[in-house]
Amino acid sequence: MSETAKLILGEETHELPVTIGAENERGLDISKLRGSTGCITIDRGFKNTGACYSAITYLDGENGVLRYRGYPIEQLAEKATFIEVAYLLIYGDLPSKERLQEFENNITQHTLVHEEMKGFLQAYPANAHPMGVLAAMVCSLSTFYPESQDPNRSQEAFDLSITRLIAKMPTLAAWAYKHSLRQPLIYPQNRFNYCENFLNMMFSMPTEEYFPNPVVLKALNKLLILHADHEQNCSASTVRIVGSSQANLYASVSAGVCALWGPLHGGANQAVIQMLEAIKEDGGDTEKWIAKAKDKEDPFRLMGFGHRVYKNFDPRARIIKEACNDVLDTLGIEDPVLDIAKKLEKVALDDEYFVERSLYPNVDFYSGIIYRALGIPPEMFTVMFSLGRLPGWIAQWKEMLDSKDPIGRPRQIYTGKTARDYVPVDER
Ligand code: SDX
Repeated sequence: MSETAKLILGEETHELPVTIGAENERGLDISKLRGSTGCITIDRGFKNTGACYSAITYLDGENGVLRYRGYPIEQLAEKATFIEVAYLLIYGDLPSKERLQEFENNITQHTLVHEEMKGFLQAYPANAHPMGVLAAMVCSLSTFYPESQDPNRSQEAFDLSITRLIAKMPTLAAWAYKHSLRQPLIYPQNRFNYCENFLNMMFSMPTEEYFPNPVVLKALNKLLILHADHEQNCSASTVRIVGSSQANLYASVSAGVCALWGPLHGGANQAVIQMLEAIKEDGGDTEKWIAKAKDKEDPFRLMGFGHRVYKNFDPRARIIKEACNDVLDTLGIEDPVLDIAKKLEKVALDDEYFVERSLYPNVDFYSGIIYRALGIPPEMFTVMFSLGRLPGWIAQWKEMLDSKDPIGRPRQIYTGKTARDYVPVDER
C-alpha cells in the first residue's frame, strides 16, 4: 500500500512518497525534495531523520522493545552466546550447530595479532586511556592486511576481515589494559572460548593463571549481548558514514570506537561510576545531586539517565539491573555505589522533571557496577562497550555496502557572511 504526503510550499503543492517499515513505522521519502522544491530539510542531531533502511535491529522507544533480527533481546541475553548473536547480527540468521562451530573455530584461529603491534603499545604512556589505544590499534590492523583496503575484494577476503576483527578485538582490549598496568601481555589460548579467552588475557599473569567464576562468565556473555547493536546510534552511524566512502572495515570501526568514547554515548558507563563515587564521597545526598541535574545553570547531568529513543525503561537496563543483583549476591560483594544508584533511580523516577522528559535509566546506568564486580576498572568500561558493540558495527557496515548506499554527504543551511571582497592587510 503506497501512501503519499502533501507538502504546501508557497503556491505549490508537492507530493512526497511515504515509506512504510516492517513494523509500520512511516517515513517521508525526501530523496527528490531538493530537485522538486529547491528546499532541503534541517534536523540537528538527526532526531527525526532516518539515514537508511535496515533489517538488523528494531527498537520501539515508547514500549521499551529491542530485537536483533526479530529475536527479543530478553531471549538472546538469557539463552544465546555472544558469538552466536554476533553471527546473527552480521549474517542475518541464527547459525546451525555446524556453521556456529565453524565460525567459532575460524575466530579461534585468528586471535593473535602481529608481533610488531606490541611496538605501538609500548609507545603509549601507562596512563593512556584504553579507548585511545584501542581506536589506534584497530585502525593499525588495516596496515597488516592491505587486501582489506580493496573495495573490490573477494567475499572470502571480506569475511576474513570480519573474522579477524572479531577475533583480535579482545586481544587488543586486554593488551591495552595490561599495558596500563605495565604487566606482561597474556596471549590468547585456543582452548578457551571467547569470554574465557578475554578474561584470561585480562587477569592472568605469567606466574599464575586466572580461572573465571562461572557467574562472571555468564554475566560477561550477557553484557556483551546486551551491547551488541542498537540500530542507528551515534557510533553505528559513524561506522556507516566512514564506510560509505569505501574506507576499509578496520578504519570504519576505529571511527566507531572514537564516537563511542564520548561521555554522552558509550563513555557514559565510566561517567556513571565516577558520578556515583562522587556522590558517595559527598555523603550520599541523592536529593542534592538530583537538584543539580535539574538546574539549568548547572552543567551536571545524571549520567546513565535519558535516551534519544527510549522514552520508557531501556529494556537492557532492566536486564542488567537484575544481573547486577545476581552477580553481587553470588560473589558476596557489598558495593555501596549500587545502593546509591538504586536511591538515585527511585528519587528520579518519582520526580516530575525526569518523568516529564521521559528520562529513565539507560544501558549505562548499571553496567559499570557489574563490570566493577567482575574486576574491570572504570577506564576499561567503554572498551567493554566496544567489545560488545563490535558485531553491530560490522553488521551495519556490511548492510550499508550490501545495500550499495551512496557516500554519506548531508547538506546544510549556510548562516555565514554573504559575498565580500578581500582587503589587503595594510588596509584592515
Ligand atoms: C548510549 O543512541 C543510542 O542508542 C545510544 C546507546 C547505544 O546502545 O548505542 O543506547 C548507548 O549512548 C546511552 C546514553 C548514554 N548517555 C548518558 O547516559 C548521558 C546522559 N544522558 C544525556 O546526556 C541524554 O539523555 C542523551 C544524550 C542520552 C540523549 O540526549 P537527547 O535525546 O539529545 O536529549 P536532550 O539532550 O535534548 O535532553 C532533553 C531534555 C533536556 O532538558 P530541556 O532542554 O527539555 O529542559 O532532557 C534533559 C535535557 O537537559 N536531559 C537531562 C538528562 N538527559 C536529558 N537532564 C538531566 N540529566 C540527564 N541525564
